[in-house]
Amino acid sequence: MIALECTLCSKRYQPGEVRYVCPACGPDGLLDPLYDYERARGDFPRLDAAGIARYLSILPIKNPAHLPPLLVGGTPLTRGDRLARELGLQHLFLKEDNRSLTGSFKDRASAVAVAAALDEGERLITGASTGNAASSLAGMAAALGLTTVIFVPARAPRAKITQLLVYGAHVLLVDGSYDDACDLSLEATNRYGWYNRNTGYNPVCLEGKKTAALELWEDFGREAPEAVFVPVGDGCIIGGIGKGFMDLRRMGLIDRLPRLYGCQAEGSAVLSKCQDGRIVAEPDASTVADSICVGYPRAASQALRAVRESRGSWLVVTDEEILEAQQRVARSTGVFGEPACSAAAAGLFQAVEKGLVGKDERIALVVTGSGLKDVEGAMKGPCGQGIPVPRSPEGLEAALQQIPGLL
Ligand SMILES: Cc1ncc(COP(=O)(O)O)c(C=O)c1O
Ligand SMILES: [Zn+2]
Repeated sequence: MIALECTLCSKRYQPGEVRYVCPACGPDGLLDPLYDYERARGDFPRLDAAGIARYLSILPIKNPAHLPPLLVGGTPLTRGDRLARELGLQHLFLKEDNRSLTGSFKDRASAVAVAAALDEGERLITGASTGNAASSLAGMAAALGLTTVIFVPARAPRAKITQLLVYGAHVLLVDGSYDDACDLSLEATNRYGWYNRNTGYNPVCLEGKKTAALELWEDFGREAPEAVFVPVGDGCIIGGIGKGFMDLRRMGLIDRLPRLYGCQAEGSAVLSKCQDGRIVAEPDASTVADSICVGYPRAASQALRAVRESRGSWLVVTDEEILEAQQRVARSTGVFGEPACSAAAAGLFQAVEKGLVGKDERIALVVTGSGLKDVEGAMKGPCGQGIPVPRSPEGLEAALQQIPGLL
């Protein structure tokens, strides 16, 4: 890394001069790590490494031995041919980050954050999260023997809280929203000097997330696809994917960005609604997709830039569309994503209807979290219930009769 550049005022800082946001612009002044791209290209990607370690020459990590000794990234890109046919598309792919170690895309950022913390000699990391960033941080920290203090909304899905507890994190269940949890974690960071892994605050997180774009580039035969659909809450994932493609362009490895589609839930759609970058917070944000339930998006400038510069667009979907999309994708591809990433699938369905994507384009849907993270959420969808069956042949017959067309 040669500099950190503010996304608002463009001021550049030396590595090590600033840790989190631009001192001149405050919390909205997110910093972009920049590299000596000419030099980085010589060792990119590292063919002898797996997962995110392939991209070390453009990651803010000084000592690669500080990365967790686990495979992070390197998730499959799978063809969704049956779903593609239903939609009249030819080349639809699923980037299966639901298969990641702790079950979500957030592992990419957490792995880079723990390595960056260790580079600076820090062994206690704090963070706020809707659940996935926290559980992935707790998992990566556990692998390295680090301490974590985690702020999550008390109403976060049980599976995510369970992961935190099993990994041995100190779990603070905030009586409030994700936005409240963020504010408290920043308070703790300032008061106690802990290392902070918040999305849209610590610039290394975005760099971890950009590795998905670098993998897509490799997966598509060292080319950019035409369109990528991404679920958005804080905007860090889409901002990171945008930054990844921009870094590839800076290295001269692609000459155009894929169109990035930011997909938000209707009850939590601040970024989709904001005009000219002016953010109007939504204090009562609410959606079944807990991971993207965000009233004050922390990575706004990078998310808006990603969609604008790639000539993509914003799509808003209802909770009903999200739960239907979750089921439709699961039934036509075998990939069971959590409600948040199903917002991206619902966004894709809308984009097809609106004619925003071409039939022969290569389209990637980023599956950011496992459906098993929130089974209560999934059960609110149209999947139905199991059929109770008594232990007798007559009972079996009666039960099977209830399934239309089976017998
Ligand atoms: C599964 C999943 N999808 C999407 C998102 C949205 O990411 P971002 O908040 O960076 O926009 C999150 C964030 O928690 C997530 O956990
Ligand atoms: Zn600034």
